[in-house]
Amino acid sequence: MSDYVVQPNAQASGTIRVPGDKSISHRALMLGGVAEGVSEVTGFLESEDCLATMKAMRALGVRVDQIGPQAIRVHGVGLRGLRPASHALDMGNSGTAMRLMTGLLAGQSFASELIGDSSLMKRPMERAAAPLRSMGARIETLEGKPPVRIAPSGGLKAIRYELPVASAQVKSAVLLAGLYAGGTTEVIEPAVTRDHTERMLLGFGCSVDASQGHIKLTPPAALRACSLEVPGDFSSSAFFLVAGSISRGGGLTIQGVGINPTRTGLLDILALMGADLRVVNHRSAGAEPVADIEVRPAKLKGIHVPEHLVPLAIDEFPALFVAAACAEGETVVTGAEELRVKESDRIAVMAEGLKALGVDCDVLPDGMRIRGRPDAAAFKGGTIDSDGDHRIAMSFTVASLRSSAPIRIKDVANVATSFPGFVGITRGAGLDVTEEP
Ligand code: S3P
Repeated sequence: MSDYVVQPNAQASGTIRVPGDKSISHRALMLGGVAEGVSEVTGFLESEDCLATMKAMRALGVRVDQIGPQAIRVHGVGLRGLRPASHALDMGNSGTAMRLMTGLLAGQSFASELIGDSSLMKRPMERAAAPLRSMGARIETLEGKPPVRIAPSGGLKAIRYELPVASAQVKSAVLLAGLYAGGTTEVIEPAVTRDHTERMLLGFGCSVDASQGHIKLTPPAALRACSLEVPGDFSSSAFFLVAGSISRGGGLTIQGVGINPTRTGLLDILALMGADLRVVNHRSAGAEPVADIEVRPAKLKGIHVPEHLVPLAIDEFPALFVAAACAEGETVVTGAEELRVKESDRIAVMAEGLKALGVDCDVLPDGMRIRGRPDAAAFKGGTIDSDGDHRIAMSFTVASLRSSAPIRIKDVANVATSFPGFVGITRGAGLDVTEEP
């Protein structure tokens, strides 16, 4: 198990790029795999999570060629062309891969089994299995958790499903199953969540009507292969948006970041806290908006994070908690109970780490209350355990910018699930981080 050791007294400065978007890379493999023809994907995220999806699609009979750095060619087999895998599909650490694949496989005429690593084997899968069962899928979980066993389908029927939790993964699982259902599948969201599936389905020629959290999908005869350019992952840029904001000098530009408004809640939250952010050079990568983001150090102030922004920033709370610890006054996050069922219980694990670094915070059932220290040393240095959660490891790396002593972060191998090259890029941004075996 490797650790990061991060030295204090650095400043975040320079111009960087972050790797491709994880959510979009998973979806490109899945939709490309069941399209007719060859899809080229550039900017593809070669992280462990997406490589698990790639391996699974290959095991289901889809040829995927690496054609260059971060570039792949997916040879689609058509909606009815997948073949049974000879073994259980291992989705690694990725909840997205497991829940979306459950949706894609629910309507196939063959059986599949999905497993994962020790973190994924503890995560709730009924949230995806239950609506798929009401479409006619035959799915078993083990007390609500993986393994997920999917029996051959005798045909699915369309449903109108009101999501009980704001989850893009569950929405996407139902929409992917909807490709195989008779009739128009409808999903109603309690709050807007990331809409990459809907945007990408349109690009593959599928008719999807989405307005105000009500999505309707009519299954096409076929999906048409297309070329996709994956933008930089906003969630990977989040660590640097916080780094640039809390740094004691300098400033950062992050180039080529996806700024889909269903992902950029952190920009709104940081702006409310007084951050100095500029989104410039707007352009698009196919269906997804892209820009460069400039961030300069600012005196942050504590806020009560508006609950409507929570689903739009759901993966960014570990980084935001670090920003809150450097802000003047109290920051309160509520309505974020979903953080408890991510790669770790991100409320409990972050609170433990913050307390180990001397931060005054209280755990709430659905969030956290943090009393920040706006002085130069918001953190006192020490050792924290990431509990194998990539986003927690990366968030505490950034905390070093306002620490009085080095920070050691244990159990960081899983950073590779979402952010290959994190250490190099972070060093390029001026931080003094090393990885120790
Ligand atoms: C994702 C949706 C979110 C997010 C995850 C990626 C996706 O999960 O936390 O990292 O790609 O659809 P939920 O749907 O569980 O909120």
